[in-house]
Amino acid sequence: MDIDQLNEQIARIEAQVGLDLAGVEQVDALRSLETTVLGKKGSLGVLIGGVKDCPPEQRKAFGQTVNQAKTRVKTLFDSRLGKLQSSVSEAETKAETVFDPTLPGKCKEMGSVHPVTSVQWEIERIFERLGFTVEAGPEMESEYNNFEALNIPATHPARDMQDTFWLDNGKVLRTHTSPVQFRAMKKFGAPLRIIAPGRCFRYETIDASHENTFHQVEGLMIDRDISIPNLIAMSRMLLREVMERDVELRVRPGYFPFVEPGIEIDMNCQICGGQGCPTCKQSGWVEILPAGMVHPNVLEAGGVDTEEYTGFAFGLGLTRLAMMKFGIGDIRILNGGDLRAMVSPERLGGPILKDKV
Ligand code: PHE
Repeated sequence: MDIDQLNEQIARIEAQVGLDLAGVEQVDALRSLETTVLGKKGSLGVLIGGVKDCPPEQRKAFGQTVNQAKTRVKTLFDSRLGKLQSSVSEAETKAETVFDPTLPGKCKEMGSVHPVTSVQWEIERIFERLGFTVEAGPEMESEYNNFEALNIPATHPARDMQDTFWLDNGKVLRTHTSPVQFRAMKKFGAPLRIIAPGRCFRYETIDASHENTFHQVEGLMIDRDISIPNLIAMSRMLLREVMERDVELRVRPGYFPFVEPGIEIDMNCQICGGQGCPTCKQSGWVEILPAGMVHPNVLEAGGVDTEEYTGFAFGLGLTRLAMMKFGIGDIRILNGGDLRAMVSPERLGGPILKDKV
């Protein structure tokens, strides 16, 4: 290349830079344009880099020419940058000084509530209206409270259904919220109306509807003349209100050592509408509310006079209910903290403070 060709090439580059710069509105865009021109591989950068390979007699003239071109191009970039920056700050000052009361307010981005928490709060409010108090028991429980007090002695086969995590201190991670039944009876006696939401743990094989960590809401109502129809009526009201739609219920016998008789209240699967899907194990129904009349042995362990009182208890599957309510087909989404599953908190009133029993 001779010096004329070089000048010609530089003139073309400068003309192009002028055109491109006129269209640049953002500082970022300007910086990247700068790289495509002055960077090592940029249109001008390549020419600058090529100087050292020129024959010695041309090197000085070439070097001067490209360096002058570089200075000119740099000035073009700098002046455009200055303009961009001043127009940004001008816009900012304008926005600050002109107060327009008709503009909508600045909206703060709100965090949101976990679906399980949101359903829990809703349930707390429903039961509060019915005269129930909200209690909390510990997640680390004694073997006695988790099993024996609930009519599940060490040799009972029902222990297999609720295999759990045993701790070095001899305690267990509770397998259900039912120990709170015992704690509340001991503390308050009868008559009694409590619910106890909380986390439970089991040694489970994980699939779409089973997890080693899940939430339940225990319910216990002890009074004179309490019977199964009270329990079913309450369940229907509760599920309809939480789901905000009519749901189909199915009641069948269920076995739990701490109730007699024991029932399972199932709800038609809200994920598939009852057609069958992995969440409902293709059955169209989900076990949502295992329940029953509190076993006399349990009432007695809690110090309640079985001549005078009867009671019902239930262990609502809170995690499952949240999945049904929000159409979340896989429990792993909830436990994995997948943010797409979080709920807008707008209509949630916050938790009701729980008593420790
Ligand atoms: N605790 C039982 C479970 O987790 C559920 C249950 C609670 C059943 C209360 C009956 C009465 O499987």
